[in-house]
Amino acid sequence: MINRTSVVATSLLTSLSAWLTLSGCRGAGIIGDKHGDKEQAAPAPEDPAGCPLTTGEQWQNFLQTYADNDKWVATCEDAIPCDADYYKLVDTKIKSVLDRCTAFLAKDDKIAACTKNIRAFVPSWMRQHDKDSYGFTVDNATYLAAEVATDKPKGMMVPPPAIVAAIPDRAKVEEAARLNGWRYITHDSALAGTRTFIYIPDPAGRFDQWMLLNFVDGSTEVNVDTPMSFIGVQKTDADGHPLIANRLNFRDYTISKSSNGTFNVQAHPENNGKCYSCHPSGMRQLIARHTNVLEAMPVKGEADFDPAGKITPADFGFKRLTELNNIIRAYGLPDWDGKIIPENHGPALGKDQGCVGCHNGTKRGILTVSTSITQLGRKIYDQLSMPQEDGIIQLLERSEMKNPVLNDDEGNKLTAAFAAHDQIAADFMDSRQPVLRDWLLETACE
Ligand code: HEC
Ligand code: HEC
Repeated sequence: MINRTSVVATSLLTSLSAWLTLSGCRGAGIIGDKHGDKEQAAPAPEDPAGCPLTTGEQWQNFLQTYADNDKWVATCEDAIPCDADYYKLVDTKIKSVLDRCTAFLAKDDKIAACTKNIRAFVPSWMRQHDKDSYGFTVDNATYLAAEVATDKPKGMMVPPPAIVAAIPDRAKVEEAARLNGWRYITHDSALAGTRTFIYIPDPAGRFDQWMLLNFVDGSTEVNVDTPMSFIGVQKTDADGHPLIANRLNFRDYTISKSSNGTFNVQAHPENNGKCYSCHPSGMRQLIARHTNVLEAMPVKGEADFDPAGKITPADFGFKRLTELNNIIRAYGLPDWDGKIIPENHGPALGKDQGCVGCHNGTKRGILTVSTSITQLGRKIYDQLSMPQEDGIIQLLERSEMKNPVLNDDEGNKLTAAFAAHDQIAADFMDSRQPVLRDWLLETACE
């Protein structure tokens, strides 16, 4: 995961390992290989060309050999590298057997039923763990081409030249947004560092464009080693007929310097940020509170717009943040258009932690073993935002901003909330692998 990593790597890993230590969670799937020895026990294929497993007992043995492995639940969407050896094992020992048995499975209903979940899961898992795709059901070349095909609204995936020309200077990027009437905010990110988010609705209402640029903490220059992440929220077909649900078109634009010193952006098919792992419900809310960096100004067309970019109404950053989050929330769950099939990523996690009431695939996307463990840690623990509780976020905000400083009672309440959320995070993490295993073994083969 080279592309998204540099800006977040250090602090993410620090915070993740700190959290894992703190939470007492033994790093489900990240550290250790308690089932590694089982790999040897797989039945050896007799005939390399045909289906090596024919009896219910052999299939049951196959499932039991592979279902119970904590490497399934290691996510590798950002700073944590994917495990290339395990990927290869899945490919050669599991995927290849399932492929070779396609004809056999088509004739044997019982074995087809008991292997249904593993057959759905393995290809999705492989996409989430390969080196050269965003993790969708199609490869990147196909995915990127589909975003600009003739059935898509024209121009949806084209970042505005005025923004690109302003890279790498943060002030210039913001100025370009302001003078063009594009709402933006520069805000602390749930990943790490700071990001400038820009929102550009198509005047014809066919789509909205969202893009972000990354800044290492304190820097006024875009970190050009990380991509400009971009989502085209598609609302209509090419002819302007509304879609039943919005479709999201993800891409990471690599930023590079031209020979004349200006920057340009290109979508390289080998980029591999795993969008779905952090975007299980499609669009993400921006951290919905005051943080150290929260800056925006009125843009052209708005009442308070100051062309000189000097006068900002009080607390305008928070107002803009709330407004942008409302726009994001209003999109609802996306139509993944077959590019993600959530149920193939395993069962909905978090039942015992009270997550499934909302993360049920209707209100919000289900949380699965593909969901980023760092993002889960951030939401449940660092941000105390999942599950939500009245008043806690406000205490966290005040504790960080020291405005007003917490009194003893409030401080104790916050400490207690951290302890409770630490436990929830640990329980959630510990449940991931057993819940997946039980699902893979749900139906017996014999
Ligand atoms: C490691 C987790 C992670 C991955 C992987 C990830 N994102 Fe995001 N993304 C986030 C978070 C968190 C936000 C919300 C803003 C913030 O806190 O930075 C976000 C927000 C965005 C936004 C702003 C609109 C919105 O939804 O809020 C865009 C555009 C975006 N991401 C594009 C992408 C694309 C394209 C990919 C895949 C190529 C991707 N992201 C992969 C974590 C991630
Ligand atoms: C009352 C409903 C509700 C419950 C219960 C809930 N969530 Fe959420 N969750 C939300 C909403 C709303 C958002 C979007 C707002 C945000 O990001 O803060 C969200 C966002 C998230 C995200 C970011 C990805 C996304 O869907 O946008 C993660 C990860 C997450 N929740 C994890 C959890 C976990 C883990 C639990 C259980 C411990 C949980 N949530 C319980 C409503 C809920």
